Amino acid sequence: MKLITTSSVDEFADVAADYVTRAVRENPRLALTLPTGSTPRGLYLRLRDAHRGGRFSLEDARVFMLDEYRDLPSYPSQSFEYFLREHLGEVIFNPSTTRHLLDPWREPADYDATLDAEGGLDLAIVGVGRNGHVGFNEPGADVSSRTHVVTLAPDTLEANFPELDARLRPTRAITIGLADLRRARSILMLVAGENKHAVAKMLCAGLIDENVPATHLIEHDDLTIVMADDLL
Ligand code: GLP
Repeated sequence: MKLITTSSVDEFADVAADYVTRAVRENPRLALTLPTGSTPRGLYLRLRDAHRGGRFSLEDARVFMLDEYRDLPSYPSQSFEYFLREHLGEVIFNPSTTRHLLDPWREPADYDATLDAEGGLDLAIVGVGRNGHVGFNEPGADVSSRTHVVTLAPDTLEANFPELDARLRPTRAITIGLADLRRARSILMLVAGENKHAVAKMLCAGLIDENVPATHLIEHDDLTIVMADDLL
């Protein structure tokens, strides 16, 4: 595991963008996941700027959605797809990039078949929830799980929908499983944000805990963690 600590929001975004740019340069056809959340926003801004400047392209890449809420009919603006359109726009929503969108009502096994047909993930870019979830693999998630529907943890709902009345929050989501993330050839884990000190501490200590799903990725041969140093 390679741990890179950063001391500002800009440095965090620069380091992550350098990593992704290099990975795409080495393998323009790579299959990758991209996370939602506030953590990767700076990275996406950098990638979008570089794309506009002709210095970065995902046109030959294959993008997989990491997760999606399952019951968000009246709040599409919270959906993963909406998030990617808003933050990455033409970087991935262009005629050339292959996008494997995760329809929350699709049979999960179909998505696994697509992952298999594409040869699995080359790069899993993941964020980490404050309860340690990756994608929507919540505490207690099975390390051998593939794409599956989950019931969201109360803490995740509190973190992701702080202002929404509890009755209006989604309760379920679909996510790529830990097995496929662990099988990815490389993993870039981005760790920043409030209330993540406990998770950050466990990652740095290399402690695997089934109640903190992100720690199941610690033993990966090619894991790079970019972490905001205010969490240490
Ligand atoms: C959501 C996503 C995760 C993401 C997490 C962290 O729950 N499903 O993929 O890592 O949010 O969000 P933030 O970066 O806002 O802390």
